[in-house]
Amino acid sequence: MTAFLNKFIKYLFTGQLPGILYEKVFIYLIPQWRGFFSFIFYRLLYRNFTFGKNLKCWGRIIVSKSPESVIAIGDNAWIVSDAVRAGIALYSKCKLQACRNARIAIGNNVALIGTSITCRTTLVEIGDGTIIAPNVIIVDSDFHAAWPPQNRALNMGYENDREVKIGKNVWIGMNVLVLKGVTIGDNSIVAAGSVVVKDVPPNVIAGGNPAGVLKNLPAEPFSL
Ligand SMILES: CC(C)(COP(=O)(O)OP(=O)(O)OC[C@H]1O[C@@H](n2cnc3c(N)ncnc32)[C@H](O)[C@@H]1OP(=O)(O)O)[C@@H](O)C(=O)NCCC(=O)NCCS
Repeated sequence: MTAFLNKFIKYLFTGQLPGILYEKVFIYLIPQWRGFFSFIFYRLLYRNFTFGKNLKCWGRIIVSKSPESVIAIGDNAWIVSDAVRAGIALYSKCKLQACRNARIAIGNNVALIGTSITCRTTLVEIGDGTIIAPNVIIVDSDFHAAWPPQNRALNMGYENDREVKIGKNVWIGMNVLVLKGVTIGDNSIVAAGSVVVKDVPPNVIAGGNPAGVLKNLPAEPFSL
């Protein structure tokens, strides 16, 4: 209590109190309420939209799902869906969209930061402990069939949709695109700005467009 008072007096007399109050209220507190209420809203609105304990969410998320689809988020999710709260520029709110009988399964201790996941007919799975940096888009579909060209707009190509599986403790960098049918192995890192169109093995750094293996990570856990 004394430490708190000391700090308060120091900030008061050095003119830093307004800035600190602004940060606490407008960057943390209000976005966190918005995030919490958006989760409650969607939980009440939708069947099969679930989340675990100790959820932290800053900013309103966007959820859209069909009655047959499932969206499940594990414990200790850390979700940033607010440009003011995000440490890096955020282009959009977090969006989880599951159509038809699709399934989005997000494990425990996962961080999503302005992530957009659209699962149209299959499965998007994210393993425990995975971090997804700002503005990552994950899809299980191309949304249109490539052929015949004159009918692309109306031909949704559902038959080409493929599952996306992201392993445990994966780190996906800023502005990455993860396209249909990809598996990313446990512990791997996907470098910022990459486009992942093929599987990434476990314990590597992958990157580029199309993303390929750049470097191996130590196979065994190590301490710094
Ligand atoms: C993946 C990352 C962590 C790797 O960092 P690192 O271990 O220091 O790796 P290096 O810089 O030694 O790069 C290794 C190789 O990958 C290449 N590389 C690194 N980042 C790349 C990228 N985004 N795209 C393509 N290639 C990349 C490097 O050119 C280098 O190639 P070379 O060996 O032929 O010279 C880093 O590049 C990255 O993407 N950081 C951003 C993380 C992020 O998005 N954070 C947001 C907050 S969660």
